[in-house]
Amino acid sequence: MPLIPLAWTRAATALLRPLRALVAHSWLREADVDLLLQALHPAWRLNRVLAQVERREWVAEDMLALTLRCNGNAGGWQPGQHLQLFTELAGVRLSRSYSLTAVHGDGRIELAIKRQPGGRLSNYLLDHLAVGQVLELGQASGSLQWPAVAADGVLLLAAGSGITPLLGLLRQALAEGFSAPISLLHYVRSRSQRAFSRELQGLQLQYPNLQVRWAISAEAAALDELSGRFQVSHLSGLPGSSLLVCGPHGFVASVRQEWAGELQSEAFSLPPATPDAGLQPLQLQFSRSQLRVTGDNASSLLVQAEQHGLRPAHGCRQGICSSCTCTLVSGAVRDLRSGGLFSEPGQPIRICVSVPQGDVVVDL
Ligand code: FES
Repeated sequence: MPLIPLAWTRAATALLRPLRALVAHSWLREADVDLLLQALHPAWRLNRVLAQVERREWVAEDMLALTLRCNGNAGGWQPGQHLQLFTELAGVRLSRSYSLTAVHGDGRIELAIKRQPGGRLSNYLLDHLAVGQVLELGQASGSLQWPAVAADGVLLLAAGSGITPLLGLLRQALAEGFSAPISLLHYVRSRSQRAFSRELQGLQLQYPNLQVRWAISAEAAALDELSGRFQVSHLSGLPGSSLLVCGPHGFVASVRQEWAGELQSEAFSLPPATPDAGLQPLQLQFSRSQLRVTGDNASSLLVQAEQHGLRPAHGCRQGICSSCTCTLVSGAVRDLRSGGLFSEPGQPIRICVSVPQGDVVVDL
C-alpha cells in the first residue's frame, strides 16, 4: 500500500532538485535515493519515469488502449511521439516502442498496444497487465507534427498500428479547433482490426470537417469502405496538400512513391537489407568487448553482435529510440531506413539499423 498518492510525487518533483544535485556530484547514490522514494510510492524515482496503469480498454480485437499515470519525471511529451515501455518477464528485461495517443496535463498519458504474433511483451501486456501495476517508460521523442499551415486540409494515412500516433495528433488538433478538412484513411486486414472505430465515428459526428474511411484487405469491403492495399486512387477527391503517413515500411514507401506534396512519415518496420553486391563476408570488430568476428553485409550490427554472444543495450530495434547508439570507429555502414552511407570515424550510429558495408570497427 503506497504511503502517499502518486499525484503528490508529481507535485514534489521540484523538491527533489537538491537530491539530484547531490547525486550529480556523487555525494549520494541514485539507487539509494530511489529506494527511499520507492518506499513512499512504488512509482516514485529521482529521475526515471515510472507510471501506474489506471485503465485498460480494448479498442479492437487485437489492440488494447492503456491509460497510465506518470510520476513527475515525464516532461514536455506530446501526442504522436513515441516512447519505450520496459518490463521484466522471468528475469529478462523487455522493451518496445509505443506511440502516445493522448497526453493530459495531470500526468496521465494514453497509448495503445497491438498484439504481435509471438510477441512476448505485447502478449503479456494485453493478457496480464493489471490496473494498478507499475511500468517503466523511457522519455518520449519523435518528430511527427500536425502541419503548421494546412488551410486546404490534412490527409492522414495509417496502416495497422500506425493509427496510434495519428490519432494522438488528430485528437489534439480537433480539441484545439482545427477547422480545415481532415481525411483519415485506416488500412486494416479485417473489420475487427479497425482500432478506435467507435471513437472515430463519434468524432466524425462531432466535427463535420473530419472524414474517416477504412480500407479492408482480407475481407470483402462494404460500400462505404475502400478495398485492398493503398492505391493512389484512394486519395482522389480528398482535399488537402499536407499528408501524414504511418505504418509498416512497405506501406509508407508506397505512399511516398505516389505523393508529390508535403509529407511526414513514420515507419515502424525496417526495409529488408538487400546487399547490392550480393552477400559478402567481412570483418567486424567490437572494440570494447575485444571481439573480432567474421560478419556479413546483410544484417544489422545489432543482430550480428547478438549472434556472437554480445548483449548490446537496445530498445525499439527500429532506429527510433536511440538506445543502441554506438560510435563508429572505422569503416562504413548503411542506414537501413534512409539508405544513407556513414563512414566518418567517431560519428554516432544506431546499430539496430546500421548494416556494415565492409570491414567495420565499432565502439561496443
Ligand atoms: S534500438 Fe532503438 S534506435 Fe536502435
